[in-house]
Amino acid sequence: MERTHTRPAGPRTAVVWAALREETDRRGASLVVVDVGGGTGGFAVPLAETGHRVTVVDASPDALAALTRRAAEAGVAGRVAAIQGDGDRLAELVPAGSADLILCHSLLEVVDDPAEVVHALAATLRPGGALSVVVANRAAAVLSRAMNGHLDAAGALLRDPDGRAGPGDKLRRRFDPAEAAALLGAAGLTVEKIQGVRVLADLVPGGVADADPDALLAFELAAAELPPYRDIATALHVYARKP
Ligand SMILES: C[S@@+](CC[C@H](N)C(=O)[O-])C[C@H]1O[C@@H](n2cnc3c(N)ncnc32)[C@H](O)[C@@H]1O
Repeated sequence: MERTHTRPAGPRTAVVWAALREETDRRGASLVVVDVGGGTGGFAVPLAETGHRVTVVDASPDALAALTRRAAEAGVAGRVAAIQGDGDRLAELVPAGSADLILCHSLLEVVDDPAEVVHALAATLRPGGALSVVVANRAAAVLSRAMNGHLDAAGALLRDPDGRAGPGDKLRRRFDPAEAAALLGAAGLTVEKIQGVRVLADLVPGGVADADPDALLAFELAAAELPPYRDIATALHVYARKP
């Protein structure tokens, strides 16, 4: 089995891929991966390309159709399963204790009950299995609204208990690093790492990112685990393990 990722990760996802690669390389076998809210397969298909078996559970039939096409085009249809369903109902869709690695990226912001979903994720992991969670970071959302001149929305986000900018906000909640870690800890998982995803990638002018993507990528990797840089990243990557 090929153990390394076949395509270099860009600065926007590099820190997440670095943690996933560490896991897959360390285990050195074909892993059973579940990607909950995996959408069109941005993570699932590259993982399948490196030999892992990936089940994507997603609420959207359109996203799953795109995933299936993408997997076929990449020649990994046999290693990618698509299940339409709700993250809240994971226990009915995937056997308990079956997954070596679960991805739950950009989903906990929109589900009805994130604690319930995280408990279902924990139950689906086998002992020793790892969970990769990406959530929106409240601090970054406050700063970006303020920097764009939307001080009312920035203030609302700062004060709202769930980190929403108001009723029109497309997300139901945002997290800070301690809240995200506590959510996983409450499900009996051991948090191993909290990283910032896109510390600078959404702040630097597009021209800078295009002119020197390698420099931006190196910065993202260097700053990802370092507060206060980590704490202003657009998203937070929480990596945890089931004891
Ligand atoms: C923002 S996308 C993230 C896609 C992918 N995880 C990524 O990081 O690129 C959120 C995905 O979650 C799916 N989704 C939203 N609510 C869901 C739910 N309750 N259960 C399962 N999937 C859901 C959407 O259909 C969408 O594909």
